[in-house]
Amino acid sequence: MERLIIKGGRPLSGTVRVGGMKNAALPMMAATILAPGVHILNNIPDLRDITTMSHLLRIFGAKIYRHGHALTLDTSTCDFPEAPYELVSTMRASFFVLGPLLARFGRAKVALPGGCAIGPRPVDLHLKGLRALGAEMDMEGGYVVAEARKLRGASVNFEVPSVGATENVLMAAVLAEGTTVVENAAKEPEISALAEFLRSMGAKISGDGTDRIEVEGVTSLSPAEVEVPPDRIETATFLIAAAATGGEVTVEGCLPEHITSVIGKLREAGAELQVRDGTIRVQGPPRPGPTDVVATPYPGYPTDLQPLHTALMTIAEGTSLISDRVFPERFTHVPELRRMGADISVEDRVAVVRGVRALDGAPVMAPDIRAGAALVVAGLAAKGETVISRVYHIDRGYERIEEKLRSLGAEVRRES
Ligand code: UD1
Repeated sequence: MERLIIKGGRPLSGTVRVGGMKNAALPMMAATILAPGVHILNNIPDLRDITTMSHLLRIFGAKIYRHGHALTLDTSTCDFPEAPYELVSTMRASFFVLGPLLARFGRAKVALPGGCAIGPRPVDLHLKGLRALGAEMDMEGGYVVAEARKLRGASVNFEVPSVGATENVLMAAVLAEGTTVVENAAKEPEISALAEFLRSMGAKISGDGTDRIEVEGVTSLSPAEVEVPPDRIETATFLIAAAATGGEVTVEGCLPEHITSVIGKLREAGAELQVRDGTIRVQGPPRPGPTDVVATPYPGYPTDLQPLHTALMTIAEGTSLISDRVFPERFTHVPELRRMGADISVEDRVAVVRGVRALDGAPVMAPDIRAGAALVVAGLAAKGETVISRVYHIDRGYERIEEKLRSLGAEVRRES
């Protein structure tokens, strides 16, 4: 078990470059199943989740090689065994293989993801969408067993915009017969990145980035090479960490237009931000001002950053109200932040964060990826030493986090 040891209280300073978008890379990797042959994905971050998806695709017979941040995936030898529970239970994104397997092989067997640290996360919308395209779905011993002799284009209307369900349906619809229209589709940049990759494989998709996506099915797709866009959540993580320490940081190689809501909230909290093409420079305030946040689907404030904003608000000069409409029970970071002296109560699914002058370093445990990142932010801002255990959660979504933070002057080390 590895731990991160952070000596807090130093303002971050310097320049950092962000890596590729994890949540786009994962469905893109699954999408390579759709076109047998050799695909190249550039700017793939070196993360635990990427390793898990590689492992899963290898079980299906894919050959995968990494050269730095490029991943070569040869899916010509894939067949269709099952996606086992041991893998799907460690990473929900494994469920993304369901649509591509159905589209390529006409059948699939994928374990149901089950519980998750950030509240109930059903897959009913994934199944509803694939059923609309003509798949028959049965549950057997905790697995979804799906079959479709021929997928047919259909109209799919989601009750709530789900990123994963939109992606699964897109990946099935590209090889379906006829036209599919997805209404109330998720609009996250990860959807557009996946759609772009599918288009480079020969798919006919329009409307991604809006809540109505249209897919005209084609009979086959060809392998492709693409560049994964920069990760908006990693970008914002460095901005929030800089703001929490009163530091001055420049984030390079990012897409500021993907985090407009976050930039707005940081400015509201008193940070100064300068946005230029592909670069954001932040100067943290001496002490943040209280700033309410309601996490909502894109382009709203991202649920994945809600725990980090909460960490920032623990040291604000006043009280902030924070809630999450995407995952209303996403408060696993709260008890850990309290261990560091934060004054937070959760009432009716709203976190009431009463800012304290300073946090105290403490031993804490990362409950999941982003709650773990929130503890990193808190540890950097706190007085004294914070020891974060269960770092493997943080490693799922952040590449070499301690090295990147050290390059910004933080005192962070990893220990076994
Ligand atoms: C993706 C992201 C995750 C992010 C989330 C919301 C990946 C790998 N993960 O997760 O980091 O926090 O989007 O931006 O991309 N829902 C249903 N039924 C379903 C599916 C979802 O009711 O079948 C609900 C969920 O409970 C939630 C909402 O829809 O309330 C949005 O979830 P969804 O967008 O599906 O999240 P994921 O795709 O799992």
